Amino acid sequence: MKLEHDISVLISEEELDNKILELGTKISKDYEGKCVHLICILKGSIFFTCELAKRITVPVTLDFISVSSYGSGTVSSGSINIKKELDESIEGKDVIVIEDIIDSGRTLSFLIPMLKDRKPNSLKLCTMLDKPERREFGIQVDYNGFQIPDKFVVGYGLDYDQKYRNLPYIGVVHL
Ligand code: IMP
Ligand code: MG
Repeated sequence: MKLEHDISVLISEEELDNKILELGTKISKDYEGKCVHLICILKGSIFFTCELAKRITVPVTLDFISVSSYGSGTVSSGSINIKKELDESIEGKDVIVIEDIIDSGRTLSFLIPMLKDRKPNSLKLCTMLDKPERREFGIQVDYNGFQIPDKFVVGYGLDYDQKYRNLPYIGVVHL
């Protein structure tokens, strides 16, 4: 693919495949005898959610939510705006929220309590990537793919200006 930016591979497609199989196997074991309800946070988590769902061997249902977080410096700083609500109730369900990357933790620090209020039977968090150096809000991560350094990454759902989501690997953008 001809790219407009200089992008170097941080996590290869093969490493991602192997990690997703490992996570899927772990989740399948942890949820044996249950049905797992995956909540994909649009748009970034879509590629990871699809690949992970294919590696889970217990019954899976899916729903999608889209949120935008207001950056610091706005009046609503710290609150999130729901752009697309879930289609179904999560009451009584065993939910796993699927995130692409945890950065400051702001998004999840609002989303997780909001979802817990809806009375799921259980609620866990699975993220493909974690940038722990950037954390401002405490987040409990149950399943983590890779810890990465404080670099801006794209691919596998992650974008720079809405581009590069379709790269099959995680790359660092050299701006
Ligand atoms: P948080 O609320 O600060 O944890 O932000 C998480 C969201 O910011 C992620 O779901 C991404 O949409 C976005 N984000 C954070 N770091 C990156 C990155 O390196 N590349 C692309 N998007 C990022
Ligand atoms: Mg996201």
